[in-house]
Amino acid sequence: MKIIIEDNYENLSHKAAEVIKEQIGQKPDSVLGLATGGTPIGTYNELVKMYQNGEIDFSEVTAFNLDEYLGIEKKHEQSYHYYMQEKLFNKINIKKENIFIPESKPKNPEEYCKWYENKIKEKGGIDLQLLGIGSNGHIGFNEPGSDFKSKTRVIELAKQTIEDNSRYFNSEKEVPNKAITMGLDTIFKAKKIIILASGEKKKKIVKKIVNLEQTEKIPATILKKHPKTKLIIDKAANTKDLVSN
Ligand code: F6R
Repeated sequence: MKIIIEDNYENLSHKAAEVIKEQIGQKPDSVLGLATGGTPIGTYNELVKMYQNGEIDFSEVTAFNLDEYLGIEKKHEQSYHYYMQEKLFNKINIKKENIFIPESKPKNPEEYCKWYENKIKEKGGIDLQLLGIGSNGHIGFNEPGSDFKSKTRVIELAKQTIEDNSRYFNSEKEVPNKAITMGLDTIFKAKKIIILASGEKKKKIVKKIVNLEQTEKIPATILKKHPKTKLIIDKAANTKDLVSN
């Protein structure tokens, strides 16, 4: 796992956007895996700026989002459908038919998850996956204890995740307790991965991911054996003992 330490959140966001720009430059019909949450907002802002300056063309890009809350209305401001439209898709030239975000109310969730997993395969797999990290080490909504071989599926959110994400809702009670998430194996199959962590709150988990052996108790440790993963953190998320390598 390559570690890149940036001075601050702005530089981290710029770096992540540069990696995505480079990927699309090399392969205009790239398949991207995308994340939501607070961390990638700066990256999406940078990508929008690059698009407006004519530096990136998304017309042949396909995007698969990692996850979505189960049962939430798509038009709810905290749904990941809403987030992605607002933060990125409405502002760039990606084609509607090339956008995939897990359904929030599928009729048959199990069948739907299989369909999503197969769709990723049908499109040739993910070329570059963007990830954030939960404070408990989750990636996507693969909570601690998730099988490293897991595929896209319905998952119950951990108490910690509900607590962390309650900052986006009026109260903890409003946070949906289930979600659909790409699995750990689905994520691991991406050809390249960038995982972002910013701010003091991520210090502890970053240290664990870097220093501990692979363990299903900390899902992000699966990436330690991925051949092309870059962990991009800012100084605030560094415990001081990590250095860029
Ligand atoms: C979001 C996702 C989650 C977040 C993680 C960190 O699509 O899959 O794993 O990346 O919960 O969220 P933030 O960035 O809000 O700290």
